[in-house]
Amino acid sequence: MFVNNAGMSLNGGTLENSASEIEAIIALNITAAARLAIAAGKAFGARGKGAIVNIASVLALAPEQFEGVYSGSKAFLLNLSHALAVNGREKGFHVQAVLPGATRTEIWERSGKDIDAFPAEMVMSADDLVDAALTGLDRGEEVTIPPLADEGQWKAYYAARLAMGPNLSRRDVAERYRASEAV
Ligand SMILES: NC(=O)c1ccc[n+]([C@@H]2O[C@H](COP(=O)([O-])OP(=O)(O)OC[C@H]3O[C@@H](n4cnc5c(N)ncnc54)[C@H](OP(=O)(O)O)[C@@H]3O)[C@@H](O)[C@H]2O)c1
Repeated sequence: MFVNNAGMSLNGGTLENSASEIEAIIALNITAAARLAIAAGKAFGARGKGAIVNIASVLALAPEQFEGVYSGSKAFLLNLSHALAVNGREKGFHVQAVLPGATRTEIWERSGKDIDAFPAEMVMSADDLVDAALTGLDRGEEVTIPPLADEGQWKAYYAARLAMGPNLSRRDVAERYRASEAV
């Protein structure tokens, strides 16, 4: 099993971070995460077994709520997980993306934020998060969202995305974009 956990967030809002801070988060949350997950996928694919656990974030689904490079890096990891899961199904390994909400860890202090500023009911303990992630893995989930009480919300979102799939690459321009229609 490979757990792709290392990650960081940034101190400021989307317009407040320096070029070097943006590069540092992309190097860790995207470049390293992708290289490690793909290396693990190659090794597990050759063995026909194994599991990759990618620690993403609920912010992959809620970019409006936080700094955009962090949430974008987690959307990247969720996207990569969906793609790798297809490879995993073909080659015999499992891929799980875990989407924690706010969790009481050192990441907040490290990025200059106060986790205690959140309402207590929004913050999960790391122990509960890890237990839930492992339960999700036991359930064979490809996406585990420990704080989401109504699993149907995720299923509806996922189904809506898949339903768009056959319509996303066409010879014909959609009617609303045709010049004659726009006049
Ligand atoms: N806490 C939350 O609210 C929350 C919510 C959603 C998702 N997540 C995600 O959960 C994962 C774990 O974060 P955490 O909350 O447990 O934060 P954390 O307590 O700050 O732990 C971060 C981990 O990443 C490692 N790391 C940081 N920079 C690194 C680097 N440049 N190279 C190698 N390793 C590095 C740290 O290793 P060292 O200790 O050796 O520095 C540590 O093990 C992250 O991917 C984070 O984005 C967290």
